[in-house]
Amino acid sequence: MAQVLTQTKPPATSSSGKAMISAARISRRVRFLGRQISDAYADIETPLIMLVILKGATVFAADLLRSLRVPAELEFVRAASYGAGVASSGRVKLAHMVEGTFADRHVLLVEDIVDSGRTAEAVTKRVHQAKPASLRLAALLDRPARRVVDVKIDFRGFVIPDRFVIGYGLDYAGLYRELPDIHSLG
Ligand code: IMP
Ligand code: MG
Repeated sequence: MAQVLTQTKPPATSSSGKAMISAARISRRVRFLGRQISDAYADIETPLIMLVILKGATVFAADLLRSLRVPAELEFVRAASYGAGVASSGRVKLAHMVEGTFADRHVLLVEDIVDSGRTAEAVTKRVHQAKPASLRLAALLDRPARRVVDVKIDFRGFVIPDRFVIGYGLDYAGLYRELPDIHSLG
């Protein structure tokens, strides 16, 4: 048990040892985004569909969902562009998406971080083929320094500097998703 705890301790986080974004700041911002999104979809006639990009966005999506004041359904898509490293591989693989659900529906893509933008672009393209009534993107984090394709983020949590981050659902090699704060590595 002690060994497990040692292994899952955050590795050398930012030099000050402080979180880049504290759980309290995240929580305030997510509630703000929830209000923004609720206002934007106040008049729609069918429940919103939150399409959550697995796995990193699950923690954000769970909090965001509970800060909404409009009815919302949940759908998921598995997207992977990173292997076990910290640099984008450039390829995006999509899986588990139930495409029939999106026709004539208002779809909100929920992403943990927009980095190169390839994941958001790949999912957006695929959902568009299903002819949704509308399609927008909510991203907790935006790291513009590594952007490769242009992506419009309709609802954005925080813009962050060019550092790899972990916590609040974001992983490094599958670990550290459970951390309540967001930390930068190295
Ligand atoms: P993009 O396709 O390059 O925009 O990458 C987006 C995906 O890569 C995100 O959904 C994350 O899963 C992952 N990713 C990008 N940067 C980070 C990071 O700093 N920490 C953890 N995961 C990241
Ligand atoms: Mg992701």
